Amino acid sequence: MGEMNIRFSESSKTFHLYNDWISYILKVLEDGRLGQLYFGKRIHVKDDYDYLYEKTHRSMSAYTGDEDQMVSPGDARQEYGTYGSGDFKQPAAEIYQENGAYLTNAVYVSHTVQAGKPKLPGLPATYTEEDGEAMTLSVKLLDPVSGAGICLRYTIFRDRACIARSAVISNEGSGRLRLTAAMSLCLDLPDSDYEMLQFSGAWSRERHLHTRHLEPGIQSVGSRRGHSSHEHNPFLILKRPHADEFQGEAMGFSLIYSGNFLAQAEVDGHDMTRVLLGIHPDNFCWILEPEDAFQTPEAVMAYTDRGLNALSQEFHRLYWTRLARGAWRDQPSPILLNNWEATYFDISEEKLLRIAGKARECGVELFVLDDGWFGGRRSDRAGLGDWTPCRDILPEGLTGLAEKIEAMGLKFGVWIEPEMVNEDSDLYRAHPDWILKTPGYPASKSRHQWVLDFSRQEVVDAVYAMIARLLREAKISYIKWDMNRSITECFSAALPPERQGEVFHRYILGVYDLYERLTSEFPHVLFESCASGGARFDPGLLYYAPQGWTSDDTDAAERLKIQYGTSFCYPVRSMGAHVSAVPNHQLGRVTPLKTRGAVACFGTFGYELDLNRLTEEEIEEVKRQIAFVKQYRRLLQYGTFYRLKSPFEGNITAWMAVSEDRREAVVGWYRMLSVVNGPFTRLPLAGLDPDLCYRISGGQKAGAQDSCYGDELMQIGLITSDRSHEVPPAGDFEARLFVLKA
Ligand code: DGJ
Repeated sequence: MGEMNIRFSESSKTFHLYNDWISYILKVLEDGRLGQLYFGKRIHVKDDYDYLYEKTHRSMSAYTGDEDQMVSPGDARQEYGTYGSGDFKQPAAEIYQENGAYLTNAVYVSHTVQAGKPKLPGLPATYTEEDGEAMTLSVKLLDPVSGAGICLRYTIFRDRACIARSAVISNEGSGRLRLTAAMSLCLDLPDSDYEMLQFSGAWSRERHLHTRHLEPGIQSVGSRRGHSSHEHNPFLILKRPHADEFQGEAMGFSLIYSGNFLAQAEVDGHDMTRVLLGIHPDNFCWILEPEDAFQTPEAVMAYTDRGLNALSQEFHRLYWTRLARGAWRDQPSPILLNNWEATYFDISEEKLLRIAGKARECGVELFVLDDGWFGGRRSDRAGLGDWTPCRDILPEGLTGLAEKIEAMGLKFGVWIEPEMVNEDSDLYRAHPDWILKTPGYPASKSRHQWVLDFSRQEVVDAVYAMIARLLREAKISYIKWDMNRSITECFSAALPPERQGEVFHRYILGVYDLYERLTSEFPHVLFESCASGGARFDPGLLYYAPQGWTSDDTDAAERLKIQYGTSFCYPVRSMGAHVSAVPNHQLGRVTPLKTRGAVACFGTFGYELDLNRLTEEEIEEVKRQIAFVKQYRRLLQYGTFYRLKSPFEGNITAWMAVSEDRREAVVGWYRMLSVVNGPFTRLPLAGLDPDLCYRISGGQKAGAQDSCYGDELMQIGLITSDRSHEVPPAGDFEARLFVLKA
């Protein structure tokens, strides 16, 4: 069992959090503030590391009560920087007093260390199952003038190169405080020789990898859309320029939150880098009356010196085992068929049963009824908010349909979009004041719908009652929870003027509340999150919904980029991935069925088409795919995932999953454009046992490479050259799946 400790040296006022892999060192500075000394690979445990607290006099620095003028808040690395006394970087917290002063000089008061990890009230967070898995340090700071308390909380996990952090800002004075920034994580690094990796895009091309070298000033990504967004993900990596997938130093910063966020790196004039991660300070303002407290979401930071794959694997393991919860955490996902792209809104019970019947025949395990089954929902212009089955479509309701589907030997799942309402709905007619809307301005529609005010308890309660009733009445095993627009005119009719800056966050707390109630009352139900594809693919929702619809784009070639980018933080088990029809509905591309299957099997596998429309030959291929996934899904979804070749860099993409005992692996190899008269090619693998000899099957028979030792496969590689000219060429968008068995 690994070593883990949080050690406090009374003499040097230094905290050292460490396990076998990492060290995180903090110190109470001479001015009482908390300073950051080190985050990185585990180093020796000593009483002090004061040499890291470098002092010098600098022109233009500001000094408070430091006669020697050697230590300025702007020059010492701060653990939770605030603005106003010489630290000019973007602050971790910004707190205004009643008199308008924004200065916060919070100094060390006390600390506690406890075994395990306390819960974050109302918020998703990593957890422990036994106290021995982690230790938590809470450091209490107080600004005696304003009465602002800041409690910084750090959990170090025994078995992970990760630290989870959050902060609680409290009002311990007698006047009202206004909190306009409260970040979850602030990390001051001593230099700026890093590349920043961000995962950005737009609808249907989420989480594409973008890399840039840090430059002086601020580089940031964020969302002000009310959800974590298609555009950016609440995840950043800083890596050393020479680091790659297999070696070198990298740090990852991930926010367990689904609303507005800011993730940034700021490089100051002395090449110091401040990483900030948390709720976006724009449009955020939280009122703290005396004795009130504000809990920030949790952020996780990880470190490795073994490259980006190792960094991703830290997040995969932590998030899969200690963020995802419930019965489905330990079970591979069922193979599903979703009717959305098969029918869109043109549904009838008969049609659905026909689609489900064929799915069953092919080996599908779960049938999912998507949008269009409720209220007056015949198109996207009506019905949202009315969560009762439409009898014209489902004469015996969801209960009747679910029974028929179950009788076929399939589980039944259903789509909902509980946070939304159409103008043409009974819910809106009854409660026109339940939407988010700024008085005097029109409420913008997006996809013809408005956003319900989930900052209000009675709204969440009413939606809960409707959805819980469905789940009680019908045999529903799966819920797809969609969210199809960004939030605009974010004003709540139920809150006073000074609290309007709280609405975005209160909205997300309402979403979490509804998720918590439904997942606790219906623990057998598998929840899949969705937001027009992947606009809320974030760790916050992973706590409630162990899988998420990765993107509306189901084209195999596009999916390689999306799933590859997503894998930097999120496990394969969490990524919804379906085989859909060709020409692809999002961009008209035609890719082979085999390729679509070979991409989707590195995800929670399913189909998004009417299998009745396939040829006999295609049905045979579907049956082969399903049999393959059933045989290898534990390995594919829970194995150690390695990225081998990037779709952002060339014609070939490759990745692989290795079983925990390293006796089995599946390799996915994908080529966009075929190559005529090409060279001999090899693909070096990773994660295998060098001393085990693996039998190689699948892919294509590659000469005499039937079996090889792990060291050969990792040092030399899998032969991926094209077969001789006698075999017809595979054409563009080719995929090969190789299975290795020791
Ligand atoms: C957006 C989702 O991403 C799709 O999969 C589908 O569920 C539609 N909404 C239904 O309206």
